[in-house]
Amino acid sequence: MKKYILLLLFLTAIVVGPFAYQRWSEAKRLRHIRETKQTAAQIHATPLKDFQQQLEQTSPDQTVLVLFTGNTQAHLEPCGCFIGQSGGLPRRATAISSIRDKGFSSLLVDLGGFLPLEPEQMKSDVFDQTTELDQLRVQTTFTAMEMMGYDMLVSSQPEANLGENSVDQVLTDHRFQLLAASSKASSPEQRPYLIKTVGSKRIALIELSLLETGQAASIPIKLDSLMSEVQAQADVVIVSSHLQPEVNKRLAEKYPNLSAIMSRDTGETERVGNVLLTYCYPHGKTLGALTVTDAAGETAATVEQIALTEEVDDDPNVRKLLNNFYEQVASDPQLQVASHPLFSSEALEQDSNNSYIGSEACQECHQEEFNQWSHSSHATAFNTLQIVGREYYSKCVSCHVTGFGYSSGYQVGAADRTHLAEVGCETCHGPGKQHTYTPLATNIRGKVEASTCMECHQPEHSPGFEQIVAQLMPEVDHSRTDPSLKQILEQRGRGPIKPQVELFVMSYCPYGVDAERELLPFLSKYIDKIDFKLRFIVNKKEQSEGGTDEDPEFTSLHGETELIENLRQMVVAEFYPDQFFDYLLCRVNHLKEAWTLCAEKVGLDVTKIASVVDTPQARHRFLQEVERTEELGVRASPTLVIDGRVIRGQLWRGKVRETCQ
Ligand code: HEC
Ligand code: HEC
Ligand code: HEC
Ligand code: HEC
Repeated sequence: MKKYILLLLFLTAIVVGPFAYQRWSEAKRLRHIRETKQTAAQIHATPLKDFQQQLEQTSPDQTVLVLFTGNTQAHLEPCGCFIGQSGGLPRRATAISSIRDKGFSSLLVDLGGFLPLEPEQMKSDVFDQTTELDQLRVQTTFTAMEMMGYDMLVSSQPEANLGENSVDQVLTDHRFQLLAASSKASSPEQRPYLIKTVGSKRIALIELSLLETGQAASIPIKLDSLMSEVQAQADVVIVSSHLQPEVNKRLAEKYPNLSAIMSRDTGETERVGNVLLTYCYPHGKTLGALTVTDAAGETAATVEQIALTEEVDDDPNVRKLLNNFYEQVASDPQLQVASHPLFSSEALEQDSNNSYIGSEACQECHQEEFNQWSHSSHATAFNTLQIVGREYYSKCVSCHVTGFGYSSGYQVGAADRTHLAEVGCETCHGPGKQHTYTPLATNIRGKVEASTCMECHQPEHSPGFEQIVAQLMPEVDHSRTDPSLKQILEQRGRGPIKPQVELFVMSYCPYGVDAERELLPFLSKYIDKIDFKLRFIVNKKEQSEGGTDEDPEFTSLHGETELIENLRQMVVAEFYPDQFFDYLLCRVNHLKEAWTLCAEKVGLDVTKIASVVDTPQARHRFLQEVERTEELGVRASPTLVIDGRVIRGQLWRGKVRETCQ
């Protein structure tokens, strides 16, 4: 007997074991991905609320605040590519005004690096070569800084390359003082420092790069004579230095009376004697706050980086400014051209005889790979930009489409390029026209290296990617040709945008009803993590058949009863979002009975619904159903669409494959 039990246990282990192991290792993979992304996305900064609390414990009379940014490179706001991003002009404005509201006088400075330049551009006279879009970003940044009340703007090299006129322009257009390396630097009035009285203290800011140029590794000799001149006029002296950390340390040793040496570069805060060495997060991710307290003649400085994450609201005026910027970009084709195409070191992309052809063209011969890809978030990457309203903005489009910046690649607004509005096959495998015409292993990129992914999965947009690329690869290397709905939702749900799930039905179509019965209990487990919409397939009557623009009329495959139930379900979804699923789940089993049965069972106001359903207003809202089905070309009930792409029936419909159409 014992033997049989053991044997039974053994057999069970053999049957269940591999399955259990698979589930365990999949859960482990997902956890590893999630945790790595979370850790990599973190920045070391203080929440604004905590900083405000700290301020409450200090006295405004004994404290001087210097709020600062640097190396913002005209970044207007975070891209929204991952969860927990910090930064953005509208949030910065809120943080600044909330600190000022506490009664602390402050000096607000930008330490330079406000041009959107690539590192190699930094060295040359290039501002003329930047695009019109970049110039507009710089102007928008300046306007925002003025709205925030910036006091000083340091403009060392290469901002001087804005050109003499532009520097003058900045000064006349904006109220802040410019500490600039103008090309008129030889003029005797040009001073390498500014002084401002803040509260009861005079603060001096010296910009080192304006003293001597060309000796990147040394402390300017002229500083000696300057220092006594400045110290005689100011209570607090701060040096802005773009030199290497070691040089800054020597500087601190040489001038122990300085309060701080501030660099716009990235680095670790340090203290040398009484002198604080501070750094910046680039791209305006944080707002720096240097606090100099003066207790009994002893000054002491501390520094904090303030996080600008989503808990910090947008300042409405700066938000309006950015909205104007986006409107301008959306309406001007000149501002929509690509500047730096990706894959510049890949051979296929540089071959001028080759061109992009679109993923549909590959489907014919590579159906399995296509099936897998079409359910991945790469296939819906452009839809993401449409959801957030940035589908015209080249700074986003580059990574969310195929071949942007190449003559045969995606172009904003071009009607003949919509087939490339996705991260298609050819982003990883290279342009494929030649291969499609003559399929060879030599005219397509067969081996896809992590470096190819990294063209788009850069740390600024996809933090931690490099550490988990091996764990992510199974989701793109076409080994999962039939992903489950769960796997699809899990991949799409990893980012900040909830997956948009739309189920298209006719409410009396038996296959649609079956689909609801199967799918809704599953989806209800994800209800907080998805945006679900039940959609209806109907036809709009022509004007000649009745119906007007104000009061449209419709026909439905299963007649008037179906039409009115469709309308009713739309109304229930609008008025009772929390009970909607319960109503539907009841309805699918009681379709032949009065709808009031289910409505009452789940606690809906029957009279209210009845009075709203049969009105021109409801029918008018119903027009959006027709528009959406036409937009996607959906005709069959049931059809499941996630993020604007149809999910193949095999993946979610069990055995029944028929549809009503
Ligand atoms: C042309 C740019 C581009 C390339 C190349 C690219 N990706 Fe992506 N990838 C994206 C974009 C954009 C998204 C986000 C899509 C969305 O949800 O809108 C994304 C999303 C993903 C996701 C889902 C989100 C996540 O990180 O969990 C995975 C997994 C992924 N990519 C893996 C890869 C791998 C592996 C490679 C290389 C074999 C690669 N990608 C190459 C642009 C790219
Ligand atoms: C350098 C390439 C790149 C650029 C430029 C880029 N993105 Fe992305 N984006 C990605 C990648 C890669 C992902 C996936 C990140 C991940 O999950 O790790 C992504 C993800 C996203 C997501 C999250 C999608 C989801 O399903 O949650 C949004 C939203 C997004 N990007 C919007 C934008 C916007 C808006 C811009 C322009 C301001 C932009 N992106 C610019 C590469 C880029
Ligand atoms: C995000 C990047 C990415 C995208 C997009 C992509 N692939 Fe791939 N593909 C890969 C990777 C990774 C491999 C495995 C190659 C390797 O071993 O280096 C691969 C392999 C292949 C292979 C070789 C045979 C195989 O299945 O392993 C074919 C064929 C292929 N892909 C076709 C396609 C087609 C067709 C599309 C579009 C429908 C597509 N790929 C989209 C990354 C991608
Ligand atoms: C007319 C059929 C056909 C079309 C269309 C086609 N391929 Fe292929 N593809 C093939 C054949 C056949 C091979 C195998 C070639 C060989 O090994 O000589 C292949 C091989 C590949 C490989 C693997 C190469 C390797 O090194 O192993 C990739 C990747 C690939 N195709 C991607 C694509 C992409 C992307 C497209 C669309 C742009 C596409 N294919 C369109 C037939 C096609």
